[in-house]
Amino acid sequence: MSAALEVRPLAATIGAEVFGVDLSHTPSPDMIAQLRELLLKYGVIFFRGQILTPDTHLAFAQAFGKPEIHPIVAGTDKRPEIIKIEKPANEPASFGTEWHSDNSFFAAPSLGTILYAEEIPPAGGDTLYADMYTAYDQLSDGLKKMLDGVRAIHSAKVAYDPSGSAGAKYRGESTLKYTYSDAVAEEHAHPVVRTHPESGRKALYVNPMFTLRFEDMTEQESGPLLQYLYTHSTRPEFTCRFHWQKGSVAFWDNRGVMHYAMNDYEGHRRVMSRITLTGDVPA
Ligand code: SIN
Repeated sequence: MSAALEVRPLAATIGAEVFGVDLSHTPSPDMIAQLRELLLKYGVIFFRGQILTPDTHLAFAQAFGKPEIHPIVAGTDKRPEIIKIEKPANEPASFGTEWHSDNSFFAAPSLGTILYAEEIPPAGGDTLYADMYTAYDQLSDGLKKMLDGVRAIHSAKVAYDPSGSAGAKYRGESTLKYTYSDAVAEEHAHPVVRTHPESGRKALYVNPMFTLRFEDMTEQESGPLLQYLYTHSTRPEFTCRFHWQKGSVAFWDNRGVMHYAMNDYEGHRRVMSRITLTGDVPA
């Protein structure tokens, strides 16, 4: 690792703060390689004190993959790849407040996410991350064997249900805007244990926001085991928690990490800019 970068791990297996890089400059091939390596090692890497414009945010993201346009949540007018996650002080609806892996309901879910903090409440609004590799490693051999080859159905139909708590976002009553599309009702089957295409490591790949059931099973039949997997994978020792400051950036790997945005800052505003990168079909 280059002496220029200082890496401070946040927890035993997941999350590290990285110092010594200015993300407003398109990273050199050497810097891209170093940051990729850190992303693979820690699952999520954090940067402090960054000043990004939509263009430099996008340029940084493009160095690591292809920014995607969300089929349901509107991006900004000028940069549709950037979703402004804006929660005004008086708005109850929150985004990402459940454990999930971004866009696991896509046929090819997002590889990674780059989130930039523009406005942060005086307290609260942290994001929690769970290490799905360690969660898998720590399952019993029997459960690992049972889950081998099992697939689960992922969909946005509950999380983005227009008649549910997301309704205000479709009706234009909240700052975030949703547009109904076929993507809301689609279902895609993904392996419950996926193999990371770069590291070759196995990770649990189910989440309570988008996973509906195991393939060829009912929701009632699937519920108890899925619930166990969610409780297991979010055990405190498999997680880290990031306290944002204005100018912080998080870059996480959705292929091996889940996350949860805390909604504990009522009466305060929080504004984040999010770019997700196109991923591949989980295997
Ligand atoms: C997200 O779920 O992508 C957003 C997380 C956050 O706002 O902390």
